[in-house]
Amino acid sequence: MAAIFGSRQRTVIAGFVIAVLIVVVLHVTGAKMFTLDHSWSLFAMRWLHIMSGVMWIGLLWYFNFVQTPMMPKIQPPELAGGVTKFIAPQALWWFRWGALATVVTGLLLAAMTPGGYLVNALTLAQPQRAIGIGIWMALIMAFNVWFLIWPNQQKILGLVPATDAEKAKARPIAAYASRFNTMFSIGMLYCMAVQSHG
Ligand code: HEM
Repeated sequence: MAAIFGSRQRTVIAGFVIAVLIVVVLHVTGAKMFTLDHSWSLFAMRWLHIMSGVMWIGLLWYFNFVQTPMMPKIQPPELAGGVTKFIAPQALWWFRWGALATVVTGLLLAAMTPGGYLVNALTLAQPQRAIGIGIWMALIMAFNVWFLIWPNQQKILGLVPATDAEKAKARPIAAYASRFNTMFSIGMLYCMAVQSHG
């Protein structure tokens, strides 16, 4: 057990090994045939896209439903330093790179889908209007992550030098951008799923 679960890297590798085993089992039992063609690479991109999206939105919801509401309740208050100095910077690293990976895999997924998909989606033309709305919402959210939340969180957490006045100004900007993204995430995910499954 410790050989795998004693290390995060080995745990993730084991996860991918299990995924490969699933592919093999599905293939040999005739449930889902595996052929290394464009259709499979399109599917693989969809899979990577969902995983990076889960990393991003999972952490967004962690910030909004767990970390931020709990911060003022931490007792004794000095313990909050553990969150701001260690947990939040690490969570923000996976959060912002997860956001970028989601955008890149999402755009590649759209570009790889035949039929002028990306142009149709971005111009909100049919039959890609639903995913187009979702993509624009997600792009606004990614902008918020990289250009509002991250620069202001760096000041709040003391990762870059900032005066008390600058920190006070940064707090509502980061907090409202994060809340805005939580608000948008619900409709955005509806659009992501409804395009193919609605
Ligand atoms: C700018 C960012 C994004 C782009 C360009 C993008 C693009 C796409 C595209 C093109 C699809 C395929 C739609 C179809 O079935 O035809 C898709 C599906 C999907 N996306 Fe995104 N997306 C983005 C952000 C996100 C985020 C933040 C999430 C969060 C989890 C997400 C989760 C999903 C899910 C769950 C699906 C459905 C997969 C399926 O059931 O087939 N996407 N996205």
